[in-house]
Amino acid sequence: MCPHAYLFFLQFIVIGFCMAIPQLKECLDLLERHGVPQHIVAHSLKVHEVALFLAERMRSNGVKVNVPLVEAAALLHDIDKHMSFANPSVHGVKSVELLEEEGLPKVAQVVKKHMLGTILEKGSAGLESLEEKIVYYADKRVRHDSIVSIDGRFEYLLKRYGSLREESRKTIERAYPKALELEKELLGLAHCDEGLGGMNA
Ligand SMILES: [Fe+2]
Repeated sequence: MCPHAYLFFLQFIVIGFCMAIPQLKECLDLLERHGVPQHIVAHSLKVHEVALFLAERMRSNGVKVNVPLVEAAALLHDIDKHMSFANPSVHGVKSVELLEEEGLPKVAQVVKKHMLGTILEKGSAGLESLEEKIVYYADKRVRHDSIVSIDGRFEYLLKRYGSLREESRKTIERAYPKALELEKELLGLAHCDEGLGGMNA
């Protein structure tokens, strides 16, 4: 390959990579452009803080993890939450549509997996990549914009959604022990405990 062609190819790859994974400012702009309310932005920023902490710790321990992807998915995971207040079944589905339309299929894939029931699924419908696991877990450590334990988060979920439908209550109860298993796996990779290095003080 001649040097010009090589440079063009390299530029193409770099631009493609950057477009696929937006940075913090671009994510915040996207949330604003799609009318995400301030309290959901505050929640997303806290989920981002937890997810980034874990991903960085893992990376420094030699674990292969796509940190920018974790960051973007954590920031954008609830981009459709305000659109699903009237119809909770669209939560997650609308986010994927929207993020794919924005040219962010890689982020959409991770966001899709943050839904509570994903941890109960097998194969490609379940939690597969480390990035998916980190974003799922970080979301289960944040209630509103505060870091809480898995127990605290699931107690809240039961109180808020468990009384609405029998099916929701069962999903929450079945997901709880799986979330604890996931916690053990991720904290092991990050070499830290549930205190998240003092974040959860
Ligand atoms: Fe969330």
